[in-house]
Amino acid sequence: MTKNIVIVGTQWGDEGKGKITDYLGNEADVVCRFQGGNNAGHTIVIDGNKFALHLIPSGIFHEDKINIMGNGMVINPIAFKNEVLELENKGFSTKNLFVSSRAHVTLPYHIELDKLQEEIKGDQNVGTTFKGIGPTYTDKYSRIGIRVCDFINDDIFKQKLTFVINWHNHIFKAYGKKLFDVEEVFIEMKEYQIFMKNYVCDTTKLIDDLKNDNKKILFEGAQGALLDIEQGTYPFVTSSTPTAAGVATGSGVGPNYIEKVLGIVKSYSTRVGSGKFVSEIDGDIANYIRERGHEYGTTTGRARRIGWFDTVVINHTRRVSGLTDLSIMLLDVLSGLDEIKICTHYLFKGEEINYFPALIDDLNECLPVYETLAGWQEDITACSSFDELPLNAQKYLNRIEELTGVSISLISVGPDRKQTIVKNKMW
Ligand code: GDP
Ligand code: IMO
Ligand code: MG
Repeated sequence: MTKNIVIVGTQWGDEGKGKITDYLGNEADVVCRFQGGNNAGHTIVIDGNKFALHLIPSGIFHEDKINIMGNGMVINPIAFKNEVLELENKGFSTKNLFVSSRAHVTLPYHIELDKLQEEIKGDQNVGTTFKGIGPTYTDKYSRIGIRVCDFINDDIFKQKLTFVINWHNHIFKAYGKKLFDVEEVFIEMKEYQIFMKNYVCDTTKLIDDLKNDNKKILFEGAQGALLDIEQGTYPFVTSSTPTAAGVATGSGVGPNYIEKVLGIVKSYSTRVGSGKFVSEIDGDIANYIRERGHEYGTTTGRARRIGWFDTVVINHTRRVSGLTDLSIMLLDVLSGLDEIKICTHYLFKGEEINYFPALIDDLNECLPVYETLAGWQEDITACSSFDELPLNAQKYLNRIEELTGVSISLISVGPDRKQTIVKNKMW
């Protein structure tokens, strides 16, 4: 019997990880997020009601499940309190929510640093979410970060805050920005410190106990493999490890524990922020897909860039994340198109390649090589099995399996929990 599944984004984020985490969370005992912060926006639709989560794992809508925010996350205490209260106000309990004492906290100066860095980069900016994610991870790796265990302890928090604010004020001063005042931040954080304290524990130990109790654990990734700091389109990436490898470091389990890695993949591609996107399209078809798929960011409201399904990308993710299964999302959005394209290779310096070049300048030179398939006109949002899908939709999915070498286990035909087709059982 399957004991754990890792859910990862295979493209540039927003693939529908939240929906599938909620869906598979029904049969799990535990849901654990292992990286990222409130740069994420995970949407869950239950009986027509839409919920957006940024920090809290998408298992929270199942009352009896344990939800864990792992040590690999960066947590903005203000956003955390707001998100918890919003859920509680809507009648969802957070009594089984646990925050890792080893996770790092995002504080107001991280957000200002994020904005400043983007400003300095000018037209080379990353297009970040301005949530302070990069600077929080930078502090972590510079070993000057403030962890949750520090944050909830008055004396230690004050001491670390004094050091780190003095450190960053040099930069703010150099660029003529407003300086931060230790006392002001300390006082502002008081209510959030007290609030967060109730949720904190050693989640590494908690997960180990749950594992030993044979509990089923679902790991929820944020972002996507192409935004991975190691394997993504660097420097146009986030600052964490959204691939399955991040589960080990970000939640404190050994890599040999992982059984299944479910890649969440849109039936086309989207990207927000800067950076090359080889299969990007614009014009009528892009607009058709953007409107049907409501392709506007959950976190920032930005219009998402649109492209065709790219097997070079998915093969890259298969390798770096060890994908065992795929969940194809938003297939319903493609209904009504006469033709659908799949990018099978890149044309690079006159040669067809099927790997992702590391050098951004090389990637910028790549052109998409497409295969064209016939589309389908039928509305598929009520289909509940693979066989009910129009023949051309089946052919499209079969071709994706052939080109990626990964079996499709789930197919999503609408945003609602119920609009999910199971081809192979995951648990
Ligand atoms: P995440 O960040 O990976 O969790 O994805 P987001 O929630 O940011 O973006 C996915 C969007 O697609 C959300 O608005 C979902 O409600 C929606 N969605 C998910 N699956 C489907 C689907 O199969 N069909 C349609 N039409 N929308 C979907
Ligand atoms: P979910 O979990 C889509 C993108 C930003 C930017 C880059 C770096 O909802 O899929 P950051 O603020 O992380 O430093 O920004 O990464 N980005 C996302 N794009 N979905 C996300 O999360 C993202 N999180 C970050 O747009 O290009
Ligand atoms: Mg999202």
